[in-house]
Amino acid sequence: MSNSWPDYLLEDIQARIDIVDVISDYVVLTRKGKNYLGLCPFHSEKTPSFTVTPDKQMFYCFGCQTGGNAFTFLQKKENISFVEAVRVLATKAGVHLPEKELSPAEKALHKERELAEQINKAAQEFFHSTLLTSPKAQAARDYLSNRGIARDAIDAFQLGFALDGWSNLGDFLLARGYTVEQLDKVGLVTPKDNVQCYDRFRNRIIFPIFNVHGHVIGFGGRVLDDSLPKYLNSPETAYFSKGHNLYGINHAHKAMRDKGEALVVEGYMDVIACHSNGFPNAVASLGTALTREQGKLMMRYTSNVLLAYDADAAGINATHRGAELLRDLGCKVKVLSVSGGKDPDEFLRHHKPEDFASLVESAPSWVQFKLASLVKTTPLSGIDAKVKIVSEMANDILKTESLVEREGYIRLIANTLGVTEHVISAEIMRISAKNRKKGYFSDNSHSDSHTNMEHYQTEFANIGKENTLDVLRVKPGSSVNKIYRAENLLLRLMLLDPKVIVLVAEELQWESFTDTMHDRVLCLIKEAWQKGNWNPLNWAAAVNDEALGSYLAQISMEETGIGDVLKGAADCIQVIKGQQIKEKIKSLQEEARVLQNSGDMEKALEILLEINRLVKQPASGKNRSIKPSGKG
Ligand code: CTP
Ligand code: MN
Repeated sequence: MSNSWPDYLLEDIQARIDIVDVISDYVVLTRKGKNYLGLCPFHSEKTPSFTVTPDKQMFYCFGCQTGGNAFTFLQKKENISFVEAVRVLATKAGVHLPEKELSPAEKALHKERELAEQINKAAQEFFHSTLLTSPKAQAARDYLSNRGIARDAIDAFQLGFALDGWSNLGDFLLARGYTVEQLDKVGLVTPKDNVQCYDRFRNRIIFPIFNVHGHVIGFGGRVLDDSLPKYLNSPETAYFSKGHNLYGINHAHKAMRDKGEALVVEGYMDVIACHSNGFPNAVASLGTALTREQGKLMMRYTSNVLLAYDADAAGINATHRGAELLRDLGCKVKVLSVSGGKDPDEFLRHHKPEDFASLVESAPSWVQFKLASLVKTTPLSGIDAKVKIVSEMANDILKTESLVEREGYIRLIANTLGVTEHVISAEIMRISAKNRKKGYFSDNSHSDSHTNMEHYQTEFANIGKENTLDVLRVKPGSSVNKIYRAENLLLRLMLLDPKVIVLVAEELQWESFTDTMHDRVLCLIKEAWQKGNWNPLNWAAAVNDEALGSYLAQISMEETGIGDVLKGAADCIQVIKGQQIKEKIKSLQEEARVLQNSGDMEKALEILLEINRLVKQPASGKNRSIKPSGKG
């Protein structure tokens, strides 16, 4: 069975997974230059000698000399057969594997695919040699040279030429023994009858499209003049889907990994210009809107993406859509604007490579870019315009994982719009709460913080009602108690309004919270407060502890839904105080019991009186109102 899987299926699987991910499920890997190092899972060692090479998608242990690819790793680690390992990884990769022995129809499909590969390769070589040697290709050679495409680039990208005429390629391939039907299937010809056909590409410069493994999967053809359509591409077939590929990936993937950044451009010409001018990490999305599959393909090599689309309205539009898609996949996105040229190719023709390099260097993050374009298109005349911009940016800020970055964006928006950071934070929190009601985060599962978020949302689903005591009421079956809720809500109110901090300092004297994480946040607030710093986002940025940092982010992102913040805080304080009294009573009762047993009735009575006093005290604080001090 294993042998009946065609190579391309295994290649497909490997293209969609990353060995680093696969092995990370078993071994803690640390980046070391281009490689990853960890403790070998196949022999016992104290110093890591187990190496994973993403470039080659291989692993090797210098200690016990075990090595291989992702399939062999799983085989050894899980003690399974090759066939089983292929199945596991196919599932992970989302590649469909034939379940049983291949059916005749499936075998035929695999044969067809291999045949398509052969035909494409033959066609590509034919086009390439035509461009280089045919006297009738002079115009094409001139065209390329006029556009500054050197011989090196022609070779690297295996550019070709389809002569003017109805069946140059068709005749060549038919003479090689392929049938009209076979050529039709790969989209190279249109059948005229059973034995004759018309070429799809005529009088066009040919850009072969290679997949990451270097196989030709399709073609793009450009006219030599201004006639339309400017480009003609291979039709979508079972073997070629534009949306699953990136032009230039066969060369660019290495550079993407080395540079730690992918440069995404729109067109064939842009890729070639970038590669020829020292930017070998460029790929093109082939004129389509960037797809998830293209994003994932890139992310095998890097998750930093620099979008350098055309400087027209369509390009800017594509930038926003592409950036959002990539961000949701977990990429860091920057935007390069080629002002002074309509696309990178044109820019590079009129400027020095160093000028392009400085555009790369200074490219703003997509969030910065988006804010700038919003400001450009929205006259900042009134409050309404500012509110609109903040609400347009809110989700982008909320989806920014780094707290430092998030704080920077809030500052940027505040400065740009001329309002305080506090207002922006509050507005973003408000929008976050609104999103939550709409289930905004529900399909977002790429980080742990979202899992926490879900837990958080169910636990606090009723927050948003005006009555604090209602909010604090424990749902049946909930894993958190009222105290937990009160502490949590109080912390969030403290992060919202410094007056609440004053209140807590006075009423609870910074007494410890029962939940460990709550207590850590409380200590953090106390520390910052005593240093005279109350901006929650500043503390968040200063937190070095990852768990604490993400918890703080989580609770500061949540809107409390409490209208009267001080009243809400007072209610929480009463619940917490009530609990503190209950606990005190419990321990006093225990003490009294011990004293009674030992016969010390006098002391026991003293304690019982103290208990009595505590019980009478307005434990739940109903008739005691807490007045916030005016200090905040
Ligand atoms: N494209 C296409 N079909 C078209 C037009 C465009 O497939 N009719 C795709 C091509 O992949 C093209 C990309 O969209 O490379 C970008 O289009 P455009 O900016 O118009 O072309 P350039 O690549 O800039 O080509 P040139 O510089 O030669 O005009
Ligand atoms: Mn162009």
